[in-house]
Amino acid sequence: MMINYNHSVVVFLLLSLGIFKLGLCTENQSQKNNVTVKCIQSEREALVSFKTGVIDFPGKLSSWVGEDCCKWKGVECDNESSHVTKLNLSNPAGRHRHYEYDRNDDNYPIPSDHSTLDPSTPRYNTLPKCEYCRNAGMPRKTYSRGSNVKAFVAASFSRDVKTSVKASFSGEVNKSLSGEISPYLGNLSSLTHLDVEGNYNLFTKNLDWLSSLSSLEYLYMGGVKINHTKADWLHAINMLPSLLELSLCSCQLEHLPSSLNFLNFTSLHVLDLSYNSFKTSIPQWLFNLTNLTKLDLTSSNQGGKILDSFGRLGSLKYLYLGVNHFYGSIPASIGNLSSLKELDLSYNEMNGTILESFGQLSKLVNLYLLENSWEGVITEVQLMNLKSLEEFMLTSKSQSLVFNVTENWVPPFSLKSLHLESCRIIGPKFPKWLQVQSKLTYVTLRNVGIEGTIPEEWISTISSQLTHLDLSNNQIEGNLPQQLVFPNVTKLFLQNNSFSGPIPSNISDLMPSLQYLDLSENHLYDLAENNLSGGIPDCFNNLIALVDHNTFGYEPIENYTEKAFIVTKGRAYEYDRTLQLVTCIDLSGNSLTGGIPIQITSLTRLGMLNLSMNHLNGSIPENIGNMRWLETLDLSNNRILGSIPGSLSFLTSLVHLNLSFNNLSGRIPSGNQLQTLIDATIYKGNPSLCGSPLPTKCPGDEASDGPSITGVDDKQGGDDYERIWFYASIGLGFGVGFWSVCGTLLLKKSWRHCYFRFCDDIKDRIALLIALRVVHLKRKFGLEKN
Ligand SMILES: *[C@@H]1O[C@H](CO)[C@@H](O)[C@H](O)[C@H]1NC(C)=O
Ligand SMILES: *[C@@H]1O[C@H](CO)[C@@H](O)[C@H](O)[C@H]1NC(C)=O
Ligand SMILES: *[C@@H]1O[C@H](CO)[C@@H](O)[C@H](O)[C@H]1NC(C)=O
Ligand SMILES: *[C@@H]1O[C@H](CO)[C@@H](O)[C@H](O)[C@H]1NC(C)=O
Ligand SMILES: *[C@@H]1O[C@H](CO)[C@@H](O)[C@H](O)[C@H]1NC(C)=O
Ligand SMILES: *[C@@H]1O[C@H](CO)[C@@H](O)[C@H](O)[C@H]1NC(C)=O
Ligand SMILES: *[C@@H]1O[C@H](CO)[C@@H](O)[C@H](O)[C@H]1NC(C)=O
Ligand SMILES: *[C@@H]1O[C@H](CO)[C@@H](O)[C@H](O)[C@H]1NC(C)=O
Ligand SMILES: *[C@@H]1O[C@H](CO)[C@@H](O)[C@H](O)[C@H]1NC(C)=O
Ligand SMILES: *[C@@H]1O[C@H](CO)[C@@H](O)[C@H](O)[C@H]1NC(C)=O
Ligand SMILES: *[C@@H]1O[C@H](CO)[C@@H](O)[C@H](O)[C@H]1NC(C)=O
Ligand SMILES: *[C@@H]1O[C@H](CO)[C@@H](O)[C@H](O)[C@H]1NC(C)=O
Repeated sequence: MMINYNHSVVVFLLLSLGIFKLGLCTENQSQKNNVTVKCIQSEREALVSFKTGVIDFPGKLSSWVGEDCCKWKGVECDNESSHVTKLNLSNPAGRHRHYEYDRNDDNYPIPSDHSTLDPSTPRYNTLPKCEYCRNAGMPRKTYSRGSNVKAFVAASFSRDVKTSVKASFSGEVNKSLSGEISPYLGNLSSLTHLDVEGNYNLFTKNLDWLSSLSSLEYLYMGGVKINHTKADWLHAINMLPSLLELSLCSCQLEHLPSSLNFLNFTSLHVLDLSYNSFKTSIPQWLFNLTNLTKLDLTSSNQGGKILDSFGRLGSLKYLYLGVNHFYGSIPASIGNLSSLKELDLSYNEMNGTILESFGQLSKLVNLYLLENSWEGVITEVQLMNLKSLEEFMLTSKSQSLVFNVTENWVPPFSLKSLHLESCRIIGPKFPKWLQVQSKLTYVTLRNVGIEGTIPEEWISTISSQLTHLDLSNNQIEGNLPQQLVFPNVTKLFLQNNSFSGPIPSNISDLMPSLQYLDLSENHLYDLAENNLSGGIPDCFNNLIALVDHNTFGYEPIENYTEKAFIVTKGRAYEYDRTLQLVTCIDLSGNSLTGGIPIQITSLTRLGMLNLSMNHLNGSIPENIGNMRWLETLDLSNNRILGSIPGSLSFLTSLVHLNLSFNNLSGRIPSGNQLQTLIDATIYKGNPSLCGSPLPTKCPGDEASDGPSITGVDDKQGGDDYERIWFYASIGLGFGVGFWSVCGTLLLKKSWRHCYFRFCDDIKDRIALLIALRVVHLKRKFGLEKN
């Protein structure tokens, strides 16, 4: 999901722009030809040279024919002097950058396209749409700091990401010019605007040709590779005294010269050097650019303590320092930035305090302090004057940041988005300063030590506007409000609290927009005994499609911790362990009816299937033997009919089987692994079953004894407990993951859409995890079956 744009919209935009321009050109064509612009020949040649030097696959330059270059698309001339003043060949598709940082939680803020200068665009995509479900449940991603967009994208290792990169790539390639920028562009001596941003396949050996463009005011080259190996790119830029906006984002620059004798471009308003892996730190001359309103140094490999000098940039409205290695405290001088509207320090190593001077930022609207190791105490002093604040996002690592404001303090701000995570909010249980926030649409208060009940008044105030509510990992107690109407909530995370009582049965009516729901780890009525009814959805199909693909060979997934119950062999175990593997379906102890979907048998890599204690009828799918990795199959305590398919004996990995208490009939198949499952209780309670290991002989059988395999029992029993534990630990994740999605699916059919996307994602994980699992299994038990 690195880059998300809609081709058709882009095409449509281009088309409509084209038509518009065409309209202008033809309307008064004769008049225009007669009176106005005539292209200057030397400038035409410079443009022709540019066209010759690039591969114009998208046909962006197809209008570049004829004598009058002023009529060419992307070119604008001065109507008096006829000089070319603007050249705009930007690639809007490539311009859109959606970065995703390294959190696997799908509810985590994602920085959205911030290459746009439109301050109304939210920087963090706090409300990912369904498309973003693609990353639901994906493993933690890595990002490489200070790299350009593509490198960044490539470094995100998961195959899921690569797929989407490919998609976005083709979009870029299709719309991107490629090749070298002709240095003859330097002949366009009156150029004020030059915009080639988003053409990731363009490059230039150096920027020397820019030096002669002394009227240049706007220079956008984001994404263009600048091959300069040394610092001289800056010397070219320093010949442009009129420059107002400069973007060299993701240009593969490495050198940011520390000294400069004379600063020519002091009028600069916008400086974007983000996504370059600079080998040098922020130079002092940058702080002489006192007219800067926007400074973007996101992911530019900067570190150290944040320089006090930022306080000199008194005109700054937007300051982006995210995804770097800054540490220490926010310097007091930040308080001088009286125009600051947006500050991003997310994804750094900030381990100091947020000083009181912060409270002076009365114009601050968006504050992003995610993923640092903040320390200290925030009192009302830091918040007192933040009267414009609308979006406040802060996550820490160790709860060493404390919010301790006086009990009845009413803040001057009215937030729309609030994300506080892993810090500590000192209460009274649910502090007043939070309860008075009545404009909230996005709320995450996760792992912040909140206790008590949810203030119903607050919730009902914001319930109609709320789209995202995450109060997980606190000590919130009480029943879930039974008449809670959240018409617009798509994500509701209340897991890991002390909620009790029933889950409202009409939850899908109360929250018609809901796509994600996690209520696990409460005292609610959440897992293998949920009183779910209805049939098993045959949503397995999607899940399966790729399960059997051998898509191994990507980097190992980091562990994640889950805690869950599992019911194996009729006993409930609770496990709390780091899980690596998710290959289990546990829907036991519900009120499921109907048959076992045949599709489930295409889940060929499933390790455990527990459908016990339901009301399932129908027969065991004939081709159950396809599930050749199945180690645990528990269908006990249902109403399953018919004979046991002979293919069951193909399940060579099967270690635990329980078919007891059903209506199965006929002969128990034998052979292979089934020979080792000699415990007759696993077939018990099926009056019409016959054959070994049951004492009941089948009609026509001789009175001979079944095979006696006594030794096996001991061997198997010895590590039985450990074995179950192992299976459980490897399997539970899927039980849980499956639950949060498939469970909702059972509750509400219209959620399928998202579910399918989820399935799409999880498939890779399953394939990989199963590969790991098999390896582990073999190591641990020496089960070399073939
Ligand atoms: C041509 O331009 C004149 C003014 O220069 C304008 O009044 C007229 O509407 C234009 N012609 C058409 C067909 O729009
Ligand atoms: C110039 O424009 C007039 C009408 O505006 C037209 O009659 C004339 O033919 C044009 N001349 C040329 C050389 O195009
Ligand atoms: C040049 O064109 C612009 C708009 O197209 C117009 O506003 C401006 O007055 C023109 N300048 C002259 C000198 O004709
Ligand atoms: C170039 O055109 C795009 C629209 O295609 C626009 O968004 C951008 O601002 C223009 N660039 C400059 C420097 O004016
Ligand atoms: C500049 O970079 C491009 C793209 O990486 C490469 O194809 C080209 O050979 C490089 N040119 C020089 C002179 O290094
Ligand atoms: C500043 O820009 C002007 C105009 O391009 C140029 O002549 C001059 O050399 C530049 N100064 C420096 C120190 O680069
Ligand atoms: C930056 O400003 C300081 C004075 O504030 C001045 O001494 C220094 O020379 C300037 N640096 C550059 C590169 O212009
Ligand atoms: C900075 O901006 C102010 C007002 O916007 C202007 O007067 C001043 O000339 C600018 N400074 C530079 C160096 O351009
Ligand atoms: C903050 O991190 C820096 C760099 O890792 C370290 O030198 C410093 O001691 C840390 N400060 C605190 C207060 O932990
Ligand atoms: C919170 O602030 C109050 C008053 O300043 C103080 O008495 C109390 O100890 C603080 N609590 C914590 C946990 O810091
Ligand atoms: C909430 O959803 C309703 C329709 O269900 C819509 O009319 C309303 O505008 C939404 N409110 C917000 C704040 O999005
Ligand atoms: C994952 O868990 C295994 C087993 O507990 C452990 O050896 C490994 O180091 C963990 N990996 C990570 C990245 O934490």
